[in-house]
Amino acid sequence: MTDKLISLPKHGLSRPDILAKMDAARTHDVRWRQGQVFSLVFDAGDEVNDLAKAAYITFFSENGLNPTAFPSLRRFETEVVAMVGALLGGAGHSAGNMTTGGTESILMAVLAAREWARAERPKIIHPEMVLPSSAHPAFDKAAHYFGVKAVRVPVDGDFRADVEAMRRAVNLDTVLVVGSAPSYPQGAVDPIPELASLAQQRGILCHVDACVGGMMLPFVRRLGYPVPLFDFSVPGVTSLSVDLHKYGYAAKGASVILYRNAALRRHQLFATTDWPGGIYVSPTMTGTRPGGAIAAAWAVLNFLGEEGYLRIARTVMQTTARMRDGINALDGLRVLGQPPMSVLAIASDKDNIYEIGDEMSARGWHLDRQQFPPSLHLTVNYAHRTVADRFLLDLAQSVLAARQPSLRRSGNEFAVKATRTAARLLPDRLLSRMTGRASALFGGDEGLPQRSAAMYGMMGALPNRGDLRELVLDLLESFTTVGEGDS
Ligand SMILES: Cc1ncc(COP(=O)(O)O)c(C=O)c1O
Repeated sequence: MTDKLISLPKHGLSRPDILAKMDAARTHDVRWRQGQVFSLVFDAGDEVNDLAKAAYITFFSENGLNPTAFPSLRRFETEVVAMVGALLGGAGHSAGNMTTGGTESILMAVLAAREWARAERPKIIHPEMVLPSSAHPAFDKAAHYFGVKAVRVPVDGDFRADVEAMRRAVNLDTVLVVGSAPSYPQGAVDPIPELASLAQQRGILCHVDACVGGMMLPFVRRLGYPVPLFDFSVPGVTSLSVDLHKYGYAAKGASVILYRNAALRRHQLFATTDWPGGIYVSPTMTGTRPGGAIAAAWAVLNFLGEEGYLRIARTVMQTTARMRDGINALDGLRVLGQPPMSVLAIASDKDNIYEIGDEMSARGWHLDRQQFPPSLHLTVNYAHRTVADRFLLDLAQSVLAARQPSLRRSGNEFAVKATRTAARLLPDRLLSRMTGRASALFGGDEGLPQRSAAMYGMMGALPNRGDLRELVLDLLESFTTVGEGDS
């Protein structure tokens, strides 16, 4: 897959050389400092970032694997878990751990549910979980890793979990019901009290994915916005995942998995007593656990405190309102559903939304493309407070350009390269099935697409989803293999 063989340099490079190469390598990275990136980076400003960096570096070498060696990290982790638990209605009873992110927290929740069922519902041989179509793919990953069947149920017209349909999907093998607060795709908060009550009636567990909302919704509610109940204050909610590297504004590699009580958390823990290397215990997926991420999370939570998070949430909600109203005022565009916080999807009734996305990319904005329905995704955070007006101006121009090809800008170099790399994989496997259709869609030299809209059109034209899965796995391989442009 690669033309190039890379091996360790014979002689080590100098520090300035290395730093210069790294600087050069990031030339085409998305511009998060200018507030043009959504979802990937959460930026609460230099003061918070500098503190997180200082804390991270102070504990750069420490390892959370062994709490007896580093009582400092043990203290930070338990206090972080306690602070987040108290924020979410778990004071005095919840138990949990820090993980490296939302995915690991969700993996832990599904594993614990499976282990709980093995202990408490031993007749269940093939455990299942029921979840809305909007729940994060980390649940499918957990299903894949742990042999739990994921039963996905379509959401309702407001993109919220359809409780009655989920009730019908629950059967004697179901061990877990899942809801999100909010979901990623349209930012909807599922009806958690109803889902938790369903789980309680069936005597099973209920996990709430508050990876995005856990550090935001409590403050949004305190500011007076209507926020549905979603945490341990709801009877029947048995676990919650909350990411600190999202709206907690901590360094990456920081999330919390919380259980209603220590007995539930016990099902997550791992111990082996027969290894020649000694007795080994580990609370989460990873063995070695980076001390920096744990320390930085503790530092940022203590630095911002309730006041700091409230102040940030107020600004984020004001920015979101400005963006939402501006989007809805543009001809053909609308925000999907009624998102209660700062996660939004933009759809168009008139234009190809992916063309609009390409125009936004050409203007330096990094917006995820979504499907079912086609839309662009925004996770508004503190970093966007100064760019809302420019965003709306560029969006208005992008709508016009999507309608009039003469106004279109060529994509940024990296986006074009990524799209073309994706397309380059096609001829081998799939293009023969699509000839004709492909050349009509693509344009550009070599017949490869310059714009992601063409790519999405082509994906929609693929004969079946299995082909698409193979294609994206090919892409993943190419992204994790040394490529032509690398040096
Ligand atoms: C609702 C939700 N859950 C879970 C995750 C997974 O989080 P991570 O990427 O930190 O693993 C995300 C990521 O965006 C998310 O939006």
